Amino acid sequence: MNAVVLVSGRGSNLRAICAAIDAGTCDANLVGVVSDRKGAAALQFAEDRGIPTRVVPLRKGDDRELWNTRLAAEVAQLEPELIVLAGFMRLLGPPLLERFPGRIINVHPALLPSFPGHSGPRDALDGGVKISGCTVHVVDSGVDTGPIIAQAAVPVLADDDADSLHARIQIQEHRLLPCVIHQIATGAIALDPLRVRAPDGDATRSLTAPDV
Ligand code: GRF
Repeated sequence: MNAVVLVSGRGSNLRAICAAIDAGTCDANLVGVVSDRKGAAALQFAEDRGIPTRVVPLRKGDDRELWNTRLAAEVAQLEPELIVLAGFMRLLGPPLLERFPGRIINVHPALLPSFPGHSGPRDALDGGVKISGCTVHVVDSGVDTGPIIAQAAVPVLADDDADSLHARIQIQEHRLLPCVIHQIATGAIALDPLRVRAPDGDATRSLTAPDV
């Protein structure tokens, strides 16, 4: 399955996907890595690995509609079967969502539907929860609102700050995201724009976490 990964930052999830591909546990072929930030460390990692990279920058004052159209065009040129948002910090607009309905997934550092948005670990701490985790979900036009595919939980410890909690969550992200990609590649999870379902059509079964 050809996949494109969208990144804005460090790219630890991108590294985890590549490690799983190398280990033979993630049956995906990364045909491109696309970023909105020229200096993203994830881009350098991709280049070093020989994965084609593209940058579609969005600067303050830029026309967002135009940016969305450009982003969709760059991604579409790579002809992915799946698009993975791995630390991509922008909301996607209609051009990409309509071109790849139900074919875009995101990893989020909280147990959705709680704590969507940019500061999941911080918001979980402020909310006083004792368990947090990560969610892989289908992307729709909302902020972290699409159908949930899989989740993994971690404890919130008494002395956690946002960084220590996020680091614990990321350990699970690095297991869960490659696993979900693999399950989509093998057909163990089927995606469609409105719901996530297992191949036998049992919508509820697919909403449990895959075996990681
Ligand atoms: C991850 O925690 C992910 O859940 C969130 O952004 C972070 C990206 O981390 N969407 P990295 O760039 O993959 O290290």
